[in-house]
Amino acid sequence: MLTAAEIHALNRRFEHEPTEKVLAWAAERFGARAAIGTSFQGAGLVMMHLAKTHGIALPVFTLDTGLLFPETLQLKRDLEALLEIQIEAVQPDLTVEQQEEAQGPKLWKRDPDLCCTIRKVLPLQGKLGELDCWITGLRRQQSEARSQVSIVEVYVFDEATRREIVKLNPMAHWTREAVWQYLREHEIPYNPLNDQGYRSIGCWPCTRKTSQGDHERAGRWTGFKKVECGIHTFMSKKADFEI
Ligand code: ADX
Ligand code: SF4
Repeated sequence: MLTAAEIHALNRRFEHEPTEKVLAWAAERFGARAAIGTSFQGAGLVMMHLAKTHGIALPVFTLDTGLLFPETLQLKRDLEALLEIQIEAVQPDLTVEQQEEAQGPKLWKRDPDLCCTIRKVLPLQGKLGELDCWITGLRRQQSEARSQVSIVEVYVFDEATRREIVKLNPMAHWTREAVWQYLREHEIPYNPLNDQGYRSIGCWPCTRKTSQGDHERAGRWTGFKKVECGIHTFMSKKADFEI
C-alpha cells in the first residue's frame, strides 16, 4: 500500500496534473485491481472518455440497483458501443421484487438507508473485495459533505483484517462547468434527464428535479435528512496520523 509520504506527494502532484495522468498512474500501479465506478453522470463520463482516448486500460463498473431510470440504462449501452468497452453491472443479491417480499413495498419511502444498504453498499463491498483502487467521480463542488475530498485517499476496507483500499477521486477539483464543457467539446452522450431539470441522477424513486439556486444534489432523497447513499461513508478513512 502507499506510505504517508507517497500519499502527500501524489496529492500535491495530482492537483496540478491532467486527469489522464492520474488515471494512467492507477492503471500502472494497480493493473486490473483498479476500476472506475460510475453512475453515468458527468464526471464518470469524462473519466471513461479520457481513459479511452489516452489508451489507459481501466475496467468500469456500475451499481445497478434495479431502480435506475431507463434513460440511464440506455446511456450505459450507448457508451459501451461508443467507447468499445463492457461496463460491469454489479447487482444486489435481492431483486426489487424479492426485496418487496422481504421488507414490504417501497422500502425507499420508509427506510432509504436500509434500501441503499441492500441495493448499493453491500454490492459495492462485494466488488471492492476484488479491488485495491476504487476510482470515483466525486467532486468537491457537489456538496458541503464532499468539499474536503482529496484526489488520493486511503480507507480501511475491513476493520478486522485492516485491509486497505485506495479511493482515487481524480475529478475532485473539476467544476460542474468544466465537466459539461468537456462533454460538449467531445460530443459525449449524456443522460437526457439532465436537459429536463435533473442535476444529480440516481435511482428513480429518490431523484427529483432541482431549482437553479439549489445545490447539485438537492434533488436526492427529498423529504429525508439523507444526503449520501452510504457508499461514500461506510468505510473509515485511515487517519492522517496513521499514514
Ligand atoms: S451518490 O452517492 O449520491 O450515488 P453521486 O451520484 O453523486 O453519488 O456519484 C458520486 C460518485 O459515486 C460517482 O462518480 C461514482 O464514482 C460513485 N457512484 C455513485 N453511484 C454509483 C453507482 N450506481 N455505481 C457506481 N458508482 C457510483
Ligand atoms: Fe433505494 Fe433510493 Fe437508495 Fe436507490 S437511492 S437504493 S431506491 S433508497
